Amino acid sequence: MFQKNVLRDYELALFVSYVIETVELSKTYSGGVQALKGLNMKIKAGESVGFLGPNGAGKTTTIQILLNLIHPTSGEVYLFEEPMKGRARELLSRVGALVGEPGYYNNLTPNDLLEYICQSYRMDKRTTTLRIKEVLEEVRLSDVRFKKIGTFSTGMKRRLGIAQVLVHDPELIILDEPTLGLDPKGIREIRDIIKGINKEGKTIFLTSHNLTEAYEINQRFIFLDKGKLISDESIEKIESILGESIIEVEFYKDVSPDKIDLVRRISGVVDVKKDTNHSFILEYSGDKKTVHAILKEIVNLNLPIITFNPRHMTLEDYYLRLYSQNEGN
Ligand SMILES: Nc1ncnc2c1ncn2[C@@H]1O[C@H](COP(=O)(O)OP(=O)(O)O)[C@@H](O)[C@H]1O
Ligand SMILES: [Mg+2]
Repeated sequence: MFQKNVLRDYELALFVSYVIETVELSKTYSGGVQALKGLNMKIKAGESVGFLGPNGAGKTTTIQILLNLIHPTSGEVYLFEEPMKGRARELLSRVGALVGEPGYYNNLTPNDLLEYICQSYRMDKRTTTLRIKEVLEEVRLSDVRFKKIGTFSTGMKRRLGIAQVLVHDPELIILDEPTLGLDPKGIREIRDIIKGINKEGKTIFLTSHNLTEAYEINQRFIFLDKGKLISDESIEKIESILGESIIEVEFYKDVSPDKIDLVRRISGVVDVKKDTNHSFILEYSGDKKTVHAILKEIVNLNLPIITFNPRHMTLEDYYLRLYSQNEGN
């Protein structure tokens, strides 16, 4: 953080420093569940990464390994380019993590709690006072600094959790499902706070099962499925993919797989995927003329079509495509 003020941007650009690196990280729990199967990833300083995937993908397992709460079965973790083995305590003092809901003493105030944390990091009195003021402003809890935590809403408690994570000024912030269980207003507040933290130059690594939210917060997305990395893309790449066009097609009754195969063979159609019961997503390449030609062909095939809706892909479509490709692996 202090380095940043001293070095100019072009000087910083000469360093590529990785704050997280995992090498062939694997974890098999004692019951035999293989939660991670050789995960390789590198996160650069200053990045904001969404670590995404369905329930059971291995996200929390990864975070717990990064925080040295559990040990991998095999593989290595490097934090700030240093191997974690044997040095976890020292390296983790540069990390702030919010995993699950911290237990709070209802009779304490945010000031009490944060003072206690600062003491545990052996911060002096002056720094403590300054940091408490700064982080409470950051999470918008300045006005309740001396109010009892017992009176707080879920959203306020979550923001206090983030203040706790930030108070010792860590370089890397790890958050596991930071908005889980919050209402839309609470979600928006947390989202804005996280974006603000990243703007200050801190690295963000967060898990979420909510794609829309991750898309708002992060600039890079790592998708995990069944313990393996299945996609790692920058926001620019994702946006170019989302620019691709699809057509939602709905029939009013079942259409046999061989009829769908005929649709798949229409010129311009790249692929056809089942969406819901009688709905399909048709990927095509071409322009509006192509769309018109496809529509004509489908009508010629005498299929029971009732909806034909050309549109652009969303992150959800991207996700479904990714995970249907990965099915059975
Ligand atoms: N302590 C544990 N003991 C045994 N199996 C576990 C344990 N924790 C998680 N698992 C299993 O490991 C897999 C990955 O879980 P987890 O890392 O929590 O995924 P995610 O956070 O992506 O939902 C799941 O199949 C889960 O049931
Ligand atoms: Mg989890």
